[in-house]
Amino acid sequence: MRIILLGPPGAGKGTQAEMICKQFSIPQISTGDMLRRAVTEGTKIGQEIKHIMASGQLVQNDIILALIKERIQQPDCAAGFLLDGFPRTIPQAEMLEAVGIALDWVIEIQVPDEEIIKRLSGRWIHAASGRTYHIQFNPPKIPGKDDQTGEALIQREDDKEATIRNRLQIYHQETEPLVKWYQNKGTARCMQISGVGSVDSIRQRILEICKCPPIH
Ligand code: AP5
Ligand code: MG
Repeated sequence: MRIILLGPPGAGKGTQAEMICKQFSIPQISTGDMLRRAVTEGTKIGQEIKHIMASGQLVQNDIILALIKERIQQPDCAAGFLLDGFPRTIPQAEMLEAVGIALDWVIEIQVPDEEIIKRLSGRWIHAASGRTYHIQFNPPKIPGKDDQTGEALIQREDDKEATIRNRLQIYHQETEPLVKWYQNKGTARCMQISGVGSVDSIRQRILEICKCPPIH
């Protein structure tokens, strides 16, 4: 089962990915989480991309492609995976196609821009795992602490209103055209769903889609 979750920043890709991956026993591959880890660990790549990420710009393709190629060859990806935050541009999708990875589902979660500003200003994350919470809509059991480890939650550097607007503009320009691109290819089932509503109701929408038989 190979799934791509598309959607603007704050659409709930990370939130839904965690649940879907548990349900289907497949790994979640989030390029955003991988890049943030590199920044936190202060690796050479991390130092190079720190400012790009903080400003909401896209990280250069060669870095992303190297990360993805390495990750999808790991044994835990043999039965499938969920891509969260990749591909983000048509050249990235072409690269995925070029390495011969057939996809089953491309699902875009749609949320209006103004709703996203509200969501991201209340987001808190567990840095080590990428687990995501919201002070109002998806709170941790103990305020400020990760449910599984009890470690402190933090806010992301790119969750400032001006940066969020910049990320939204990049999404509309660079990533949204991918939906049409995949629809035209016809090689995977391509669906758009509303990401407005409770976390649980959106999860149900995604699970319903994944019950349909794949194209190939
Ligand atoms: P990335 O980490 O992928 O960020 P993003 O796409 O901007 O998306 P987010 O993680 O902000 O949102 P999400 O959809 O996961 O929402 P979440 O579930 O957290 O990328 C970050 C940066 O890395 C990029 O800007 C770029 O610099 C770089 N990068 C990454 N991949 C790249 C690539 N392929 N190429 C180039 N550069 C790349 O939910 C948001 C909040 O809403 C949470 O607080 C959550 O609790 C809450 N919430 C979730 N669902 C609901 C709901 N139904 N109702 C109310 N609240 C909800
Ligand atoms: Mg995310």
